[in-house]
Amino acid sequence: MKNYDIKDPALAPEGKLRIDWAGKEMPVVKSIRERFGREKPLKGVRISACLHVTTETANLALALQEGGAEVILCASNPLSTQDDVTAALVEYGIPVNAIKGEDNDTYYRHIITALEHEPHITMDDGADLVSTLHKDYPELAARVVGGTEETTTGVIRLRNMARAGKLVYPIIAVNDAQTKHLFDNRYGTGQSTIDGITRATNILWAGRNVVVCGYGWCGKGIARRAQGLGAHVIVTEVQPIAALEAAMDGFRVMPLLKACEVGEVFITTTGDTHVIDEAHMLQMKDGAILANSGHFNVEINIPALERMAGSKRQIRPSVEEYTLDDGRRIHLLGEGRLINLAAAEGHPASVMDMSFANQSLCLEYIVRTKGQLKPDVYAVPEEIDHEVGRLKLASMNITIDSLTQEQEQYLASWEEGT
Ligand SMILES: NC(=O)c1ccc[n+]([C@@H]2O[C@H](COP(=O)([O-])OP(=O)(O)OC[C@H]3O[C@@H](n4cnc5c(N)ncnc54)[C@H](O)[C@@H]3O)[C@@H](O)[C@H]2O)c1
Repeated sequence: MKNYDIKDPALAPEGKLRIDWAGKEMPVVKSIRERFGREKPLKGVRISACLHVTTETANLALALQEGGAEVILCASNPLSTQDDVTAALVEYGIPVNAIKGEDNDTYYRHIITALEHEPHITMDDGADLVSTLHKDYPELAARVVGGTEETTTGVIRLRNMARAGKLVYPIIAVNDAQTKHLFDNRYGTGQSTIDGITRATNILWAGRNVVVCGYGWCGKGIARRAQGLGAHVIVTEVQPIAALEAAMDGFRVMPLLKACEVGEVFITTTGDTHVIDEAHMLQMKDGAILANSGHFNVEINIPALERMAGSKRQIRPSVEEYTLDDGRRIHLLGEGRLINLAAAEGHPASVMDMSFANQSLCLEYIVRTKGQLKPDVYAVPEEIDHEVGRLKLASMNITIDSLTQEQEQYLASWEEGT
């Protein structure tokens, strides 16, 4: 029986070229793939992966396949799929269930097909696959050895599941590796969010008032990149320390309601719900642009916007113009879904190299430690995190100093002082 569902198999040649192009920027994953090819650490392991189906994910899936795994892939967001990549992967023997723009029912049907693979290991980005597995397929969940989670929002959901005693197998929070969030969330989301908004709107950033909601790892990256292009950046926050950091990094910090008086572009990246709500939209200037780069499309209250608007029209691909009763127009980008994937190509491959190197090595670790970890959410083992950092530095031809014996002793001592 056909176990894949994609848009158009004829797109495979284009997908293969783009996968190759991304692969050139992923030397760490390449080196892991070569070792996996020799050692086959994932031989016979069935993996159900729910990830953004991009060229970088394709390189990851091929590395896992090379390691002996049987991988099936579905999308972790209805708008993030690259249809040429799905076609290429199917030709490479990796079943994919993902079509860009699929509706919610199709999205979940694709997740269910991935679960029918009867995984030993799950890979998730946002925890939709893992929560579906736990809610609707407990007998399959009971047979899973372990899993990985890619993003902040997924890790939060899984920790909540573990706290409620609902999680039935161990999951490694790849997001929390230093070689993941310090780079992928900050530089990856920073650059690709600006890229997505630029591709959708072609706005000039210089001189524009840009409001960034949330100053976590993603928000830090977006704010800095927007500032680098000449925008006046305002940050909004709910945590005092994050707000202080933003202020001392040189950004204006204020409540969102106040920022609405001057903001021209609003970007949410909080992992929270209804950050931009009806009251905010009522304050916004004519022509305001709203984009989200957080995991789910709940950060902007879209149902409220739909209610408030007298009419709406698609004015460009990825741009919907809502006209309020008083004539003001609000532009929503990419249906409020992660704008870097909805309107651009997601993170550059070079940064996904580190995230997916962590994923690959964590899968190998799960197989090696099978049966030893209780159901819970675990940090990426420090040796994996450091190894990824070391390999990435080496691929960039950067060498660093090492501690002398004297320094090692000094740093391990307490006697010596003033
Ligand atoms: N677009 C992408 O490709 C991409 C990549 C990585 C992560 N993400 C997602 O982006 C989101 C943020 O991730 P992160 O790693 O930056 O998380 P984080 O936890 O480091 O930062 C989130 C910040 O948002 C703040 N916040 C929460 N509610 C807020 C509110 N109502 N108003 C203002 N600020 C608020 C928090 O105080 C925190 O400082 C998550 O949903 C994550 O899954 C997206």
